[in-house]
Amino acid sequence: MGTLLGTRHFLNLAIPLVLEKSELMVLPALAELRATLSPQKAEVEKRELGQFFTPSPLADFIASFFQRPLDHWRVIDAGAGGGALTLALVRRVVMQQPRPHSFHVTAYEVDADALALLYPALAACADLCARHNIAFTSEVRTEDFIAHTTAAFDQTLFSPALRTFNAAIVNPPYRKLAVGSLSHRQLAAIGIEVTNLYSGFLSLLARLLEADAELVAIVPRSFCNGPYFLPFRRDFLARMALRRLHVFESRTAAFAAESVLQENIILRAARTACPPVTVEVSSSRGDLDDSVSSRLLPWAEIVHPRDPQAFIRLPASDHEHAAIASLAKLTGTLADLGLKVSTGKVVDFRAREHLRTDPEPAAHPLLYPCHFEAGALVWPKLGGKKPNALAVPVERTDLLVPVATYVVVRRFSSKEERKRIVASLVDPARLPEGTTWIGLENHLNYFHAAGQGLDPMLARGLLAYLNWSVLDAYFRHFNGHTQVNATDLRSLPYPPAEILTALGRALAVRAELPPQTQLDTLVADHCTLP
Ligand SMILES: C[S@@+](CC[C@H](N)C(=O)[O-])C[C@H]1O[C@@H](n2cnc3c(N)ncnc32)[C@H](O)[C@@H]1O
Repeated sequence: MGTLLGTRHFLNLAIPLVLEKSELMVLPALAELRATLSPQKAEVEKRELGQFFTPSPLADFIASFFQRPLDHWRVIDAGAGGGALTLALVRRVVMQQPRPHSFHVTAYEVDADALALLYPALAACADLCARHNIAFTSEVRTEDFIAHTTAAFDQTLFSPALRTFNAAIVNPPYRKLAVGSLSHRQLAAIGIEVTNLYSGFLSLLARLLEADAELVAIVPRSFCNGPYFLPFRRDFLARMALRRLHVFESRTAAFAAESVLQENIILRAARTACPPVTVEVSSSRGDLDDSVSSRLLPWAEIVHPRDPQAFIRLPASDHEHAAIASLAKLTGTLADLGLKVSTGKVVDFRAREHLRTDPEPAAHPLLYPCHFEAGALVWPKLGGKKPNALAVPVERTDLLVPVATYVVVRRFSSKEERKRIVASLVDPARLPEGTTWIGLENHLNYFHAAGQGLDPMLARGLLAYLNWSVLDAYFRHFNGHTQVNATDLRSLPYPPAEILTALGRALAVRAELPPQTQLDTLVADHCTLP
C-alpha cells in the first residue's frame, strides 16, 4: 500500500505566485501572441507535428517536479513548441536557493509558427534571469531532433558533435511512427525500437543525459502497459530510475483546450542504471486548481520483478489500492487454468467479400460486440449496422472457431463507460441448432482452451470474475486507456479452477448477468481468499 504522503494543493506548487509584478508583465504579451498564432494552425498540420501546447499553469506544475538544484543548468527542451516548459523552469530556477550561476537551454523545434512563440519566450527567460543575476544562454535548433541526435550517435566522420545535458524538460510530439518511416529507420539504426514519436524522444533524451541528471516529461500513459512499448520500457528503465509519476484522473483535463483525449502522466526520472527503491505516485483530478494526493510506493509494486511485460503500474486512487489488496492472495495465472486469450480472427474490412448482412443457410454466425447484452449472446441482430454472418468454407479455419462455450471481452470501451472490462458469454445454446463454426470479430478478445471451447461452468465463473468491479479497479492501475489488449488480460491474476467452477454454478441458471452489486457480492464471496 505504500506510505501516504498526504494531499497538497496544486497551485501551492506553481511558481507564478511568487513572481514579482514586473516579471509577470512578459507573460500576457506571450499569451496574446499565442492566441493569434495557434488557432490558425490547421488540425491536420498540428496532428502531423504531434503538437499540443502546454498551458502555463500546467507547465509550472511540471517544472515543480525537478528536485535537484544545479549551479549551472544545461537543459534540453526537445519539441519546445512556444517554449512554455523552459519558461516555467526558468520561473522556478530563479527562485532556487542557493541561486544558480547560469542557465543554458538547447531547444529543438521544427515548426515556424511555434518558433515565432519560442523566441519571445526565450527573451522572457533571458530577462528573468538577468533580473536575478543568472547568466542565461540559449540555442534554438530548427531541425528534426531525431535526425540530428541519431546522426550524432552514429559517430561517423561527418556526424554532428554529441552534446550532453544535466536536465531535460519535455512535452514531446505524440504521433505513431510508421515502421520503415525515416524517423523509425534513424532510431532503429542506433538500436532504438519504438512505435511512437514520444517514446523515440524519451529514448534519445535518456542517452543525452549525464549521470544523475533529471528528466521531467509529460507524456501519454500508453507506454506503461502497451505490448508494442515493451522494448521501450526495457530500454528506458535500464537507463533511467523513475522517481515520481503523476496521474491525472480525468483523461481530458490536462490539455482541455487542445481536445487531447489521451490519458497523460508526468514523470520525473534520474539518469542511473540503479533501479529506485521507492517511487512517489501522485494524482490529481486534472483541473489546474485541483489538489494533489501522493504516496510513496516500493518499486517492486510499480514494476513487478518477475513481470515479463515490465508493466509500469500506477495505483492512484484509494479504489485501486483497495483492489490490489483484495486480489493480493490470487496468485494463479491464465496458464494455470490451461486457458489462453486471443484477439478475434475476423478483421471485417479484410474479409469484405465474405460478410453477410443476414444469416444464410451456408454462412456461419459472425459475432461483434453488438451481439452481446448484459453478458449474454443475442444473435442475430437484424436491421443493425453490423453484418451477422460470414460465408466462408470451413477450410478457412483461420477465420473460424468451432462452436463451443467461450468468454469474450470487448477490446474497446467508450470513455463514458463505467467499466473497462466488459465480458460476455458465447453460449452455443443461444445459437441455431446445427451451427458448427462461428466467426469472432476483431473487436473482441476471446478466452479458449488451446483453440477449443471452455468447460461451461468454468466459463460462467470466469465471466463473473471478469465482470467484477474490484477486478476492473485492479485493471485500471496498469491500464490507463480504453483499450483492453489480450496481453492485459493475460497479466491479470486468476482464481483456481475449483473456485471459478463453484462461482459458475452459483451463476448458472441465468442467461443475463445479475445487477452489478449482486454480481460483486457473489464474486467477492467466492474469490476473496482468507
Ligand atoms: C506536444 S508539442 C509540445 C510543445 C511544447 N513543448 C509545449 O509543451 O507546449 C511538441 C512539439 O514538438 C515539435 N516537433 C514535432 N516533431 C519534431 C521533431 N522531429 N523535432 C523537433 N521538434 C518536433 C512540434 O512542432 C511541437 O511544437
